[in-house]
Amino acid sequence: MNKEHIFDKKDNYNLIDDFISTRERLNKIVMDRADIVIKRFYSLDSQTYREGVLKSKVKEMLGLVSSLVLRCDDCIKYHLNQCFNENISTSEIVEVMSVGLVVGGSIVIPHLRRAFEFWTALEKDRFDKIIISIKEKIEDINLNSNILDKEKKEEILNFVCKICSEKIPYYNWFGFYLTSDKDDNILELGPFLGEPTEHVRIPFGKGICGQAAEKKETFIVNDISEEANYLACSLKVKSELVTPIIRNGKVLGEIDIDSHFLNSFSDMDKDFNEELAKLIEPFI
Ligand code: SME
Repeated sequence: MNKEHIFDKKDNYNLIDDFISTRERLNKIVMDRADIVIKRFYSLDSQTYREGVLKSKVKEMLGLVSSLVLRCDDCIKYHLNQCFNENISTSEIVEVMSVGLVVGGSIVIPHLRRAFEFWTALEKDRFDKIIISIKEKIEDINLNSNILDKEKKEEILNFVCKICSEKIPYYNWFGFYLTSDKDDNILELGPFLGEPTEHVRIPFGKGICGQAAEKKETFIVNDISEEANYLACSLKVKSELVTPIIRNGKVLGEIDIDSHFLNSFSDMDKDFNEELAKLIEPFI
């Protein structure tokens, strides 16, 4: 299912902004009236989630499970937002939601729907913001007429590697393979961020990268242990997404992403990377 059809951009922003701004506004009203009991309770609440023996990330996940079981939508949204800011990956959140559902039972389901809607909005917002930054970078690069095309290409590819690796917690290896100038059927390793890889040259058809190049379409493997035609880079990798960069039917290269989590990639990741590929294509 294409998430573009589920989410209208405007609704998406309203969902997050409305929640955050309403919460802030109401907290101001509470603090205006608060006595020592209310103030101390508020302070205790924030102290509880600070890094302790348990990491903040773990505490936020516990908060999310409790909120699901207690069926408090505002609390669920709050902890989802905190989990997002703690760089918790989507596949981790799915498992947290499963625990909440099983402990709370089927009465949690309506809250689970809204929880997934909110999480999806957070993800969509992050993808949209990254695309905006990349478009701004492209404008900057194009305004600078003093640099060579080769330098422009390096700059944009490195920028995309950096922003995607930094902003998306489950993009654990992010890089480019570019079609060789000498052989149209070979992919050569380009700029990347993550652990070094031995796969510096990949023939079309081989591995996930080679298959995506041959089929000229995005390949998502959400569990690499089930993919026979796979070139292993690191034992940590659990899932992979590859999107070809195409001009006039010719594969110029591709975006390759490895994730250390199972089931990392959704249709939103596919849409995002296909948009990235289109933005990058003129530079290759
Ligand atoms: N796993 C890829 C090879 C490239 S590394 O992930 C960086 C594949 O199967 O094509």
